[in-house]
Amino acid sequence: MITGKFPELRLRRSRKNNWSRRLIEENNLTSNDFILPIFLIDGKNKKQPIKSMPGVYRYTIDKLNFIVDKAIKKKLPMIALFPYTDKKKKNTLGTEALNENNIVCKALQKIKKKYKNEIGVMCDVALDPYTSHGHDGLLKNEYVLNDETIKVLLDQSLLQAQMGCDVLAPSDMMDGRIGEIRKSLDKNGFKMTQILSYAVKYASSYYGPFRDAVGSKNLLKGDKKSYQMDFKNSDEALREVALDIKEGADMVMVKPGLPYLDIIKKVKENFKIPVLAYQVSGEYSLLEHGIKNNLTDKKIILESLMAFKRAGANAIVSYYADRLDQIIE
Ligand code: PBG
Repeated sequence: MITGKFPELRLRRSRKNNWSRRLIEENNLTSNDFILPIFLIDGKNKKQPIKSMPGVYRYTIDKLNFIVDKAIKKKLPMIALFPYTDKKKKNTLGTEALNENNIVCKALQKIKKKYKNEIGVMCDVALDPYTSHGHDGLLKNEYVLNDETIKVLLDQSLLQAQMGCDVLAPSDMMDGRIGEIRKSLDKNGFKMTQILSYAVKYASSYYGPFRDAVGSKNLLKGDKKSYQMDFKNSDEALREVALDIKEGADMVMVKPGLPYLDIIKKVKENFKIPVLAYQVSGEYSLLEHGIKNNLTDKKIILESLMAFKRAGANAIVSYYADRLDQIIE
């Protein structure tokens, strides 16, 4: 592998000038590499700041076009919708997930009517924004039920597909849900609706600010360790991905992002499938905290994002996706 030796070989030669550094760069980021998450909230005329995520907002449906216009102008290929659900609409079964007038359905219809296929729209398939206990599925004796939860996820998937969702992203980590969702989509005439599986999702403390953003933070009882992965493991991640590919996933996600670069790389090396990384809310909030308090420079954002590309991610879900021009120079 090593060709040549010092002093004939000086690797600093190619680093000396900017033109030369540009010439040999191995990775780069463009707007095509990003997915912008958008938080939705009921009401009118609101662009509501989220305390735990400075610079990120919740939008009411009537204000949605501002942020979607921006995403299209910045040439982002896709947005991801996440609902903040009023406490009054939550219950133990998360039935609001199946309400065809819920805020995600309303947003999907509006976006698809106005923008057609100018931009892809992705939606989570999971019950946590809608359950009063904050878990991603149905609970029995404090345990999240697998097969019973899948039944509800099938209805949620179909509903979102009907409303125009392009990419369904099951984020609940139930076993076997990708295959069941694929079968049900095909049976019901949604052969072209894609599935992005959150195949490797760790039980993580990096999700804290997101749970605040969707209003499930103070509701969550216990933790999600009985369904999300243990961060001590990586072989298990490959088994999860292998299963989801077999079941029909078009793309897979690794989440959180930066602390799991080894997993992104392993998945990419083992499976030739589009791998997405999620730079989650806790990563965002930590970076913002460091920058706001002058502990570090904002160039730290680009450095963090480039690491995803180096590890092999095809795209990155990032709360910075609407502000890339301030990040990528
Ligand atoms: C819900 C979901 C979560 C995130 C995306 N979808 C939180 C969780 O599993 O508790 C986290 C995203 C983020 O932290 O930015 N299934």
